[in-house]
This record gives sequence, structure tokens and C-alpha cells, in this order.
Amino acid sequence: MKITFVEPALPKTGSLVVGILEDRELTPTAADIDRRCGGALKRAMEFSRFRGKREQTLDVLVPPGLAIGRVVLVGLGKASELDDIKVEAVGGVTVAHLNRVGEKTATVAIDKIAGTRIAPAALAARVALGASLRAYRFDKYKTKEEKDKKPTLAALHIAVADRAGAERAYRPLEKVAEGVIFTRDLVSEPANIIYPETLAKAAKKLEKLGVDVEVLDEKAMAKLGMGALLGVGQGSARPPRLVVMQWHGAGKGKKPVAFIGKGVTFDTGGISIKPAASMEDMKWDMGGSGVVIGLMRALAGRKAKVNVVGVVGLVENMPSGKAQRPGDIVTSMSGQTIEVINTDAEGRLVLADALWYTQDRFKPQFMVNLATLTGAIIIALGSEHAGLFANNETLVERLVAAGKQVGELLWRLPLADAYDKDIESDAADMKNVGSGRGAGSITAAQFLQRFVNKVPWAHLDIAGTTWSTKDKPTVPKGATAFGLRLLARFLQEHYEGK
Ligand code: BES
Ligand code: MN
Ligand code: ZN
Repeated sequence: MKITFVEPALPKTGSLVVGILEDRELTPTAADIDRRCGGALKRAMEFSRFRGKREQTLDVLVPPGLAIGRVVLVGLGKASELDDIKVEAVGGVTVAHLNRVGEKTATVAIDKIAGTRIAPAALAARVALGASLRAYRFDKYKTKEEKDKKPTLAALHIAVADRAGAERAYRPLEKVAEGVIFTRDLVSEPANIIYPETLAKAAKKLEKLGVDVEVLDEKAMAKLGMGALLGVGQGSARPPRLVVMQWHGAGKGKKPVAFIGKGVTFDTGGISIKPAASMEDMKWDMGGSGVVIGLMRALAGRKAKVNVVGVVGLVENMPSGKAQRPGDIVTSMSGQTIEVINTDAEGRLVLADALWYTQDRFKPQFMVNLATLTGAIIIALGSEHAGLFANNETLVERLVAAGKQVGELLWRLPLADAYDKDIESDAADMKNVGSGRGAGSITAAQFLQRFVNKVPWAHLDIAGTTWSTKDKPTVPKGATAFGLRLLARFLQEHYEGK
């Protein structure tokens, strides 16, 4: 679907989309159209349940006196409640509706709306962002899809008086959307296509945008002493990789910020093998690394004025004659030894070495890691919030606030010595799971914390939010890229150009 900004004018083809505020209050373009077609819009509303509530839509077909075949009324809710996310949702819902009714071309009329402080140019840019995010679809492997099931919308025109302003406002947002789409593609690919080497290759593509990309192979990692990460990968025929991406957007002397991603390209559980039901979901166990790679793309795309390091640990967790066994003891790059009680608690082993490496080499201002780390976080928070753990209050505040601004919500859970005791081992410095069944997400976070020293650090457990089982206004079901928009916003607010 192509999005363009155009001058306001009555379109000659396709659908015209106009906004209606709550209690059926017409926006200026809606009122104008209503006059031109003899009050057909108002009458259509009267004959329906449409009230102009957010995300409601109503089609007015063949409006008398107009050349176009359809006017779509889209609910905006209360003007005073409109914010960026809600406007994006309007864009998303509009695209979903137009695809449902089989439209090919549509023009969305953007007006100045009384009662909101959001300028029309910003409204237009946010509608465009929501539209592009919702239009995403991963269908490259569908060779026989029936025509009437395919999305139809090919062109979305956004008509706004301040066209130049809208284009300017949209440019950086478009880069974020491109990052999101890149991430969703990587996360959606099955594990026979995306595995450590091919995911590293995908990251390499960022070089075109000016990102430095290094790929460490098994030998290089062995030399660094990354026994925790390598232990996870050793059962697979696909060798592991560690990818280090650097974006230099600020001065040379500026300390970088760092993002680290869990990239388990498939998680069978290893010798502690998972049950068959839903195991296919474990193709998206590289969601954290997908977000880090997409974030680097978004930042480079909009030439963010900040130095950023992205590190992703890529492994496939498989059972085999060469796989690590429960009870094996591995030595991490930090020198700390780990008793691997459960080979399915592999993400923390990968992150242990990736986190240590990152702080050791880059001395970053802070580290934020993303990982589909625990099933327990899904039990605790479902798919409405991701879990947040941190050793630094400023990071917590800023991350939570950025999450609210983009609609990617975080909920903080505690870290404490009492939980840390739970991963003490009789045989090594620690074990990779807690003793009991309680607080599984917290003991996982405690484990990670043992590899971050004193660097300000936050861990996002995104196991419940990386994949959506239902459509949302700007997130079609499937891979969400949860965390990318949040981190892009967080950087923009607090670290870029500072
Ligand atoms: N990748 C899983 C966590 C996960 C589960 C992500 C469901 C998304 C959906 C992780 O590697 C894992 O297997 N964790 C175990 C830890 C346990 C063995 C301590 C879990 O959560 O069961
Ligand atoms: Mn696992
Ligand atoms: Zn996993």
C-alpha cells in the first residue's frame, strides 16, 4: 500500500474517508460532503448504531450527487481525548475497514479539529503511520490465496492543507515504521529460513545505511570465553553468531547507549525438550534480537544524533548427541560458572555473555535488553504489558513513559537479594533456574543482573507481547515488533542530540 499526502480536493475515484466526532458531530469536510449530497451522511448515521466513537466506521454507499461510490465515516471519539496513539489507531482502523470492503484507492480528509491541540499536519502524519503499521501482512508463502481474501487497498491519499508540514512530520515516523516492518518480517520467518547465519546476514544489510556491523563466529566467541552462549548452540547443526551493530550519530567522545537482544532462532528446549503443542511458536524466540536489529535500522534511517550499540546473541536450541545436558557446568565470559539445570532456560545463558561483552567492550551509558525470556511473564501480565526489571530508577521512569506514549506498555517487577538466593548452586557459582516454581520471571532477571555489574540496566521480558493472536488497531495479528517504537521514542526524548 502506497501512502501519499495530497492537497484537499474532492476525489474522483475510490472512497473518501471523513472523521466524525463523538455524538455524531461532523468535522468540516464531513459537513461539506453532507451538504453536497443532500444530508445523506446524517441520515445514514441516524439509521445505524454509528455514534462517532473511536474505531467505529460506517459506509455511505453511492451518495447522491457525488462521483465517488463510497464515503466512509470514521469515528474519532472526543476531540479533547485525541492523542498520537488514538490518531494512529484511526489510521489503522481505516485501512482495515477499506481492505474489508474491498476498496483499492481512498482519500482521507484531514481537517483542523476544534478541541484538540494536535495540528492538522501532525494528525495527517499520525494517520499515515497508523495506516502503514496496520497494512503490514506476512504473506510471501501464500501461493494460492483466493482473490477475495487478499487485501485490496493499493493507494491511500491523505488530504491536508499543510501538505509540506505533514510530509515533514511523517519522514522520521516513516523510518520507525520501516524498522517495525523489517522486524516483523524477521520475526515472522520460520526457523528453516531464519537461523543464526541468515539472521546475521539480515543485520549485515544495515551497512548500506551506515551502520557498522561485525559478525562473530564460533571461533571468535570461543576466544572470548563465551561458554554460556556457546553451550546453548552446541546441539544445533546451525552454528551460533554474535552480531555487533554500531550507529555513530553523535560525536566520537560520546558514550554509546546499548541494546541487547535474545536471538534464539528456534527454541526446542534442548534436552529438557518442550512439549509438542505450540512448539512452532518458538520460531519467534528471536523477537528481542529482531527488535534490536529493526531499531538500528530505524535510527540509522532517521540519522538519529546518538551513538548506539546493538548486540544480538543468535543461537538455535536443539537436542542432539552434541547438545548440552542438564547438570553441565559452563564458564561464561565473565568468568562466573553456571550449572545448567534446565536446558530450556537458554535465553539467559545467551544474554549472560552478550550483556557482559557489551559492557566490557563499550562501557555504555546504559544497557537495555529485550528477550522472550519466560513463560511466567505471560502468566503474570498476559499480552497487555511487557515485564520490566531494572537497577536504575531514571531508566524505569523514562521507559515506562515512552511506552505509554506509543502504546507499548511496561509493568515493573521487583529485583531483590532474596530472589537472587534462589539461583545459588551447590556445584557452580549459580544455576540457570530457581529452586521452586515461583517467581520464574524474577529469578530469570536476577540471573541476568549477575552479568551487568553497576551499569544502569533494564530488562524487558517480551515473551507475552512479541506475537499477537488478535488484530489490534495498528498491529495486525502476528509479529508485533513490540519494544521498537518504545525505544525509538525513549531515545528521541532523552538522548538524541544531548
Ligand atoms: N523462550 C522461552 C520462553 C517463552 C515461553 C517465550 C512461551 C514465549 C512463549 C524460554 O526460553 C523458556 O523456555 N523459558 C522457560 C524457563 C524455565 C525452564 C525456567 C519457561 O518459561 O518455561
Ligand atoms: Mn527455552
Ligand atoms: Zn527461549
